[in-house]
Amino acid sequence: MTELERKQDRAPVPSEWTYASAPEARDIVTLQDRYGHYVGGEWLEARETYTTISPATEEPLAEVGQATPEEVQAAVDAARDAYANGWSDVSPSERAKYLFRIARILQERSREFAVLESLNGGKPIKESRDVDLPLSAAHFFYYAGWADKLEYAFPNRKPRPVGVAGQIIPWNFPLLMLAWKIAPALTAGNTVVLKPAETTPLSALLFCDVLRQAELPPGVVNIVTGDGRTGAEIVKSEGVDKVAFTGSTDVGKAIQRELAGTGKKLTLELGGKAANIIFDDAALDQAVEGIINGIYFNQGHVCCAGSRLLVQESIYEPVVEKLKRRLTTLRVGDPLDKNTDVGAINSKQQLDKIQELVASGAEEGAEIYQPPCRLPEQGYWFAPTVFTNVAQSYRIAQEEIFGPVLSILTFRTPDEAVEKANNTPYGLSAGVWTEKGSRILWMAERLRAGVVWANTYNRFDPSSPFGGYKESGFGREGGRHGLEPYLDLT
Ligand code: NAI
Ligand code: MG
Repeated sequence: MTELERKQDRAPVPSEWTYASAPEARDIVTLQDRYGHYVGGEWLEARETYTTISPATEEPLAEVGQATPEEVQAAVDAARDAYANGWSDVSPSERAKYLFRIARILQERSREFAVLESLNGGKPIKESRDVDLPLSAAHFFYYAGWADKLEYAFPNRKPRPVGVAGQIIPWNFPLLMLAWKIAPALTAGNTVVLKPAETTPLSALLFCDVLRQAELPPGVVNIVTGDGRTGAEIVKSEGVDKVAFTGSTDVGKAIQRELAGTGKKLTLELGGKAANIIFDDAALDQAVEGIINGIYFNQGHVCCAGSRLLVQESIYEPVVEKLKRRLTTLRVGDPLDKNTDVGAINSKQQLDKIQELVASGAEEGAEIYQPPCRLPEQGYWFAPTVFTNVAQSYRIAQEEIFGPVLSILTFRTPDEAVEKANNTPYGLSAGVWTEKGSRILWMAERLRAGVVWANTYNRFDPSSPFGGYKESGFGREGGRHGLEPYLDLT
């Protein structure tokens, strides 16, 4: 035996093919013990605070402010002041430079932001690194390019900024939603008061550091943290000219009621219950990847998630079989592990909601499938789940679950697919899988959804407008359309 053969002889034979752990280092992130509100370019000490945690471990990360009405007012005043005294006079090409700077700094610091985003929100580092951060930077780059071209974007009109934008964002894509809100607002010449969601404030607070690095004039962007009470104060504030909200349909409706008759501009990006429709001529393995990406990406905490799978009856069995097999290979666990596909559920509250809806599915008569997987004991977790035998009337086919839970229904004809897909109070997105281009166009014309993906799913680009119909809200974000809500176009 040679030396090499002797070594190989002693090497342990792997009994199963699992991945070794590949943790992303956490030390690139420096957390403060306590954060205030970012108002007028300064840190305002918070009068009331709460603890923000990591949903994967329930470990406390930092104390953050719960902004009071006075603190919100201070932020709105700072934004008004910055708007009136300087920012609205900054030339468009100078405004663009700030946006370009912010975009570049985000790229430079992207690993730091990605780790923080996964730590505070529970999403896999693979996704924060490869999706959230690149898209956030791209959004600033894209809107930077519009700043000095507004008159070409809206020919024969006189685009002028609206004033102070009050922006309230959710916890599923904390930094990306911040970018979707702040970039078009600044490009159009407005100033901003933004509130991140209560469970994920940390990336927005780190972003304040980027604003300083970019030397954005004080007060142009103000960030206050806190829960719905703080959000409601922003909405009510008289100094706010335009409200942009992304979140639940219930809160969206309440905001609409609050603003009715005030003349304030409003855009709402609310929930969804999207149909992902697979025809029998689709490339099935590709479609299965699209189904997985459609519903398990970001633990299913995605407003446009493909949560209702509509499969043509003739291919029902192979699709379900392939899907179940693929589910067994999803790795659920530590968000900071580079091999993780499905991370932690964002909060206890969200986990309770998922559990409640999943229990209703089983009670109403659907059949549940979950792959064997060991969930960590600490933190908030839910196994990837598939329901078959689902009737259209079941709650799991009607309500937004916002978790890693897929409901499968079938159809026979394209007409039936359209009818079932549109049978929802929502209308944010849809997916169509077929080899025929003509069928894609036929379907896209009939689906009442703001975005229709063909032979792909959950694809985003800053130049492409995004938004909904019906209870999914109104107004568009992204693209030239995304500038409109931030401009007066008389
Ligand atoms: P939410 O709508 O309560 O929270 C979203 C944001 O609105 C947060 O920043 C929150 O602090 C703020 N907010 C809450 N109440 C407010 C009020 N009265 N006035 C102004 N701002 C207020 O959503 P939540 O409770 O976190 O999630 C509940 C469900 O909503 C989820 O299970 C999901 O179905 C849906 N949702 C949809 C999102 C989307 O992207 N469209 C994002 C987050 C949640
Ligand atoms: Mg809520």
